[in-house]
Amino acid sequence: MSNLILGIETSCDDTAVALVDREGQVLSSVISSQIDIHEEFGGIFPEHAARAHITTILPTINACLKRANVTKDDIKAIGVTRGPGLIGSLLVGTNTASALGLAWDKPVYGINHLRGHLRSADLEEQRVKYPATVMLVSGGHTFLAYMKNKSDIKILGTTRDDSVGETYDKVGRMLGLPYPGGPAVDKLAKNGKITINFPRPMLHEKLEFSFSGLKSAVARYMTTENEIDTHENIAASFVDAVMDVLMTKSRKALKQNPSKSFVIVGGVAASPQLREKAQQLSNKMKVELCLPPMRWATDNAAMIALATWDYIDLGIHKPAAPQLQLFMQDY
Ligand code: KG4
Ligand code: ZN
Repeated sequence: MSNLILGIETSCDDTAVALVDREGQVLSSVISSQIDIHEEFGGIFPEHAARAHITTILPTINACLKRANVTKDDIKAIGVTRGPGLIGSLLVGTNTASALGLAWDKPVYGINHLRGHLRSADLEEQRVKYPATVMLVSGGHTFLAYMKNKSDIKILGTTRDDSVGETYDKVGRMLGLPYPGGPAVDKLAKNGKITINFPRPMLHEKLEFSFSGLKSAVARYMTTENEIDTHENIAASFVDAVMDVLMTKSRKALKQNPSKSFVIVGGVAASPQLREKAQQLSNKMKVELCLPPMRWATDNAAMIALATWDYIDLGIHKPAAPQLQLFMQDY
């Protein structure tokens, strides 16, 4: 019985492959990380990312199939991220998926990476109950949305400049931490105290976000203050400002849009501080907090495979061709 989706995700700096069944159970997931390659540059170097995908994609697919002990006969379709992302990286994934589809005679679906993140909260267990207020916080995106059901998405507010993940990464760099900055800043912040009152940009303005002012404030603090505080305290004060903004906006969104669940997805959903604050807010607002298990918060292919099942159910078949500009509502 061919009842598995082979998911392929190469939108950015990780080569990820996974096998997922219709219920969202992950039979295997293999992620080949490029952190070592990009660490030297303090960020992603697109040309290097594409080249690394070329080297790792086939071994990663083979390892994934081997780990689950399945063959092509167990695969119903292939789902591959077609955007948004880096063009060179996307091309490796989509071309490989197309070639495999031809060789194995399997349909290939081009998947919106953001739809993947959305479905990450239902991996291994069906968690999301609709209507839901959703916050997507990743390296490339930051927004709040309201979902009446699995396919009806209304965007409530997005960032006018930097994403939350990007801000974490830049502050991490200022603090001399390794790439990606998110987890490292969180860890440092745990040992610090909130001593600096960093700005909370656009705190009281609708549901829009802005983070470039906060990033600049941290940079300014570090270059103009004569005696700067410890890096632990700077990190703790920065994380506090980010959480304040995210939770204030989320509270507003939940108040305006009666929801059964509050869903947080994207790489920053791996932040322990965010998870704790979100739990407190959810208790107060009497909604169920739905978070992807830690390993499915950051980029992975299992979420792409689960999203592929939706495309199949809805009869939406997008080609495996890179599309750099895709919005949350797009399939
Ligand atoms: O979703 P993701 O893996 O890739 C994109 O689609 O962008 O998100 C990556 C972002 C990076 O900016 C990374 O620093 C951030 O997620 N991130 C975190 C944590 N883990 C990853 N940010 C804060 N705390 C974390 N623990
Ligand atoms: Zn992502």
